[in-house]
Amino acid sequence: MLKIDNLQANVTASGTDKPILKGLSLQINAGEIHAIMGPNGAGKSTLGYTLGGRPGYEVTGGSVDFDGKDLFELEPYQRAAAGLFLGFQYPVEIPGVSFVQFLREAANAQRASRGEPALSGGEFLKLAKEQAGLLRMDMDMLKRPVNVGFSGGEKKRAEMVQMGILDPKLAILDETDSGLDIDALRIVGEGINAIMRKPSKAVLLITHYQRLLDYVKPDFVHVLAGGRIVKTGGPELALELEEQGYEAVA
Ligand SMILES: Nc1ncnc2c1ncn2[C@@H]1O[C@H](COP(=O)(O)OP(=O)(O)OP(=O)(O)O)[C@@H](O)[C@H]1O
Ligand SMILES: [Mg+2]
Repeated sequence: MLKIDNLQANVTASGTDKPILKGLSLQINAGEIHAIMGPNGAGKSTLGYTLGGRPGYEVTGGSVDFDGKDLFELEPYQRAAAGLFLGFQYPVEIPGVSFVQFLREAANAQRASRGEPALSGGEFLKLAKEQAGLLRMDMDMLKRPVNVGFSGGEKKRAEMVQMGILDPKLAILDETDSGLDIDALRIVGEGINAIMRKPSKAVLLITHYQRLLDYVKPDFVHVLAGGRIVKTGGPELALELEEQGYEAVA
């Protein structure tokens, strides 16, 4: 589903031009869940942003094939319509735009670029209620402006409602577990499984801790350090890292 080959990318945001990804290779097949761990500043979010096409991140080498297409030939909205979803480490607030309206526009824009008919108001509301229910999120929250005044954990949960509505093929989830309380962690973990654990889908979880992996069991765990994948293992690698730290293991 996703084949990253020798990817090199620079951060060019805020007037810098700094190489961050330095020859990163990773293959994710349909049906697989991968976790990426690694020290602060290693380039994990940069990887997510580069794949998502965020401005300020420039590809300088390598290639990425997503579902048989050259990912970098696609505009960010085309990547999303093709089934790529990026969950942000820091979800943004959009004052003045109601969450339900935002979600409906996003869902219908993606459907339009795939040549599918728009969801009617009723159809959309049914879908939104189902997905919000899965994440135990009150529909009233979704009537508020996007993320404005949401607690850290509420933002992460709302992002999973968004993922459920958009129903992507590949989800890259950047520290979706950060800021979640103990119950929310379980609810979000079960939500990720319900939405994404399917033979036709795949997930890349960026995380610092084992705890989310207790719910969303990864097939592979990778260590990203210095802009490359320096070690790959099974779920036991996350436990080893938690016990011994990166210096000892990677
Ligand atoms: N907009 C920016 N301007 C300057 N430097 C940046 C910018 N974005 C990222 N960087 C730098 O790129 C490097 C990689 O950052 P990135 O956010 O990818 O790390 P990370 O692995 O996600 O870390 P964390 O675990 O703390 O989230 C860091 O040194 C960071 O300071
Ligand atoms: Mg990060």
